[in-house]
Amino acid sequence: MKRLWILLLLSLSHFAQPIHKPPAQPVPYSHKTHVGLGLSCKSCHHNPDPGEWMGIPETKICMGCHASIKTDSPHIQKLASFHNQQKQLPWVRIYSIPGYVFFSHRAHLEAGAKCENCHGQVAQRDALYREGDISMGACMKCHEETKASNDCGFCHEPR
Ligand code: HEC
Ligand code: HEC
Ligand code: HEC
Ligand code: HEC
Ligand code: HEC
Repeated sequence: MKRLWILLLLSLSHFAQPIHKPPAQPVPYSHKTHVGLGLSCKSCHHNPDPGEWMGIPETKICMGCHASIKTDSPHIQKLASFHNQQKQLPWVRIYSIPGYVFFSHRAHLEAGAKCENCHGQVAQRDALYREGDISMGACMKCHEETKASNDCGFCHEPR
């Protein structure tokens, strides 16, 4: 009986994990709204050379539209005020892997991987949360399926 309670408490604390809850962001930017306008992912996430980083857009990309769109919104006024002070919005990051793992976006896009393979249904979301799986297990599962290497030294510095 005592065991059962411990199991129940453990499972409750598991469900209480905030992993599927979007973090509070500086302004309520919606991928669903903006991708719905016809904007492509790459119009904001430029994947600059050498291609590891996809990049988070600077305020000047937003102001291309928001200098004239929804200027009466307090969120857009906050965006404009950061822009005018030449500051970037302090977005809370959602996906990151430790520095000891090699990973290149460009290599994966060239190999045919799609954003949704790792990030889920971004275009349907008003607020992003970590719905895609970027654990070592998920990386290795796809490498196995696509016949990419699963040698430890492929993703980690060889010792
Ligand atoms: C191609 C033009 C365009 C670009 C670029 C753009 N937006 Fe928008 N955005 C819109 C439009 C249009 C709406 C209004 C949709 C509606 O409610 O009718 C909107 C709505 C918003 C809203 C909701 C405002 C409110 O209070 O209702 C926020 C916040 C926002 N955008 C932030 C951003 C940020 C941050 C960026 C840059 C990363 C950005 N937008 C880039 C066109 C754009
Ligand atoms: C108008 C610009 C804009 C467009 C278009 C856009 N994004 Fe974003 N994206 C952002 C902004 C701003 C953030 C940071 C705020 C957030 O996390 O929602 C972001 C964050 C993300 C993140 C999380 C990054 C992290 O780890 O913190 C992913 C993943 C992402 N975008 C994927 C996509 C995909 C896939 C598409 C196309 C379906 C797309 N984005 C289209 C502006 C854009
Ligand atoms: C094979 C898996 C995979 C694919 C495919 C993928 N990503 Fe990512 N993405 C990641 C990982 C892993 C990170 C964390 C990288 C880090 O911490 O260095 C990430 C981080 C990001 C970020 C945060 C900024 C950055 O570069 O770290 C954005 C934005 C993003 N991805 C957008 C996209 C978009 C847009 C696409 C499709 C064009 C895409 N990703 C395709 C795995 C992927
Ligand atoms: C959608 C399937 C898929 C997922 C998910 C995936 N990979 Fe890959 N990965 C590939 C393919 C396909 C290649 C290309 C293999 C080749 O060219 O031989 C590759 C190549 C690589 C390379 C070598 C590319 C280079 O820069 O030279 C590394 C490192 C790598 N993946 C790490 C990762 C890590 C870390 C993750 C998890 C965060 C991951 N991969 C998730 C399919 C995937
Ligand atoms: C396809 C890419 C890939 C391959 C192959 C790979 N790893 Fe990893 N590994 C990762 C990623 C991604 C992480 C970080 C996961 C995270 O933090 O969520 C990681 C994390 C780790 C960690 C830290 C785990 C922790 O819990 O702190 C160790 C140790 C490790 N890997 C060892 C190995 C060994 C040993 C091999 C060979 C059998 C290997 N890895 C093969 C991608 C890979």
